[in-house]
Amino acid sequence: MTKRNAVPRSARRNRILMPWVRDAYHALSLPAAVVFLFYNRRRHPAYKVTMRTMLRFAFRIYRNTRRIQTGISYQAHLAMAAKLLEIPPTTKGVVVECGCWLGGSTVNLSLICDLVDRDLIVYDSFEGLPAAEPNDRHATPEAKGMLRGDLAVVQENVRRYGNIDRCTFRKGWFEQTLPDHTEPVVLCVLDVDFQASLHVSVLNLWPHLTPRGYVFIDEYVFIDYCALFFSESFWKKHFDAAPPGLYGAGTGIPLGQYYVGPYEERPLVQDQRSIAYTRKDFRALWDYEHRPTET
Ligand SMILES: C[S@@+](CC[C@H](N)C(=O)[O-])C[C@H]1O[C@@H](n2cnc3c(N)ncnc32)[C@H](O)[C@@H]1O
Repeated sequence: MTKRNAVPRSARRNRILMPWVRDAYHALSLPAAVVFLFYNRRRHPAYKVTMRTMLRFAFRIYRNTRRIQTGISYQAHLAMAAKLLEIPPTTKGVVVECGCWLGGSTVNLSLICDLVDRDLIVYDSFEGLPAAEPNDRHATPEAKGMLRGDLAVVQENVRRYGNIDRCTFRKGWFEQTLPDHTEPVVLCVLDVDFQASLHVSVLNLWPHLTPRGYVFIDEYVFIDYCALFFSESFWKKHFDAAPPGLYGAGTGIPLGQYYVGPYEERPLVQDQRSIAYTRKDFRALWDYEHRPTET
């Protein structure tokens, strides 16, 4: 029996067919995604964007995700744009991206920033993932240096497909660069893979969030990462506050990809490419106590 024949024919067919079904779904559902995300009465009237503009915009950012390899879906970027369009233009603040790899998400974030007239600050080592810390359950020594995108490559991608004039790049390990961050932040996107990297990003950026500023995370399929946003001890210790919670913990916010989790089950056709988010003013604290009524 040849090696090729060792793989069942149905599995081979699935391997070809399923990505095709998934891609076709993303392309065909684009107009519906635009209507569902942008037909929004909370959108601030100062942003003069029509449905037609948003359709063209959505198509452009969808095309970018096909041009540059990236782990985030265009629907996730549209969800970020929808939230930014709710923020009054008078609220001062930048958008921050932590973890950009080849710049696939940076390209789209730069276009979104252009739409809402904001600047984008991009933090990355541009040397790939850092060395694993012993306490980090998701970091392995072999991963060091993986997902490396050189600064020049990222900048070239943004120049070709995005808007480089919106971007500032801050190169280095988060532990060294993020403590020097000063600008108010209306939205940040954390796609940093390791627990240690998520921890240091939240610690350093949360204080700079505007009162209704957003944190989006890509690590939502791992519920131990999500637990950070529900950890009473973490939020008490570092911010003397209640945890903010996380919309989309475990499966991501519902963007039509039909992914129901858990991650280990590796779905055939569904895309686990959503996003999860929280906001500075959210509160997710279970402090209810049932007390029998006195007679
Ligand atoms: C999964 S990739 C980002 C993917 C990108 N957002 C996309 O969708 O195409 C993770 C990135 O985080 C960066 N990174 C992770 N931990 C870091 C740290 N402690 N300091 C600096 N960069 C870090 C890596 O260099 C890598 O570029």
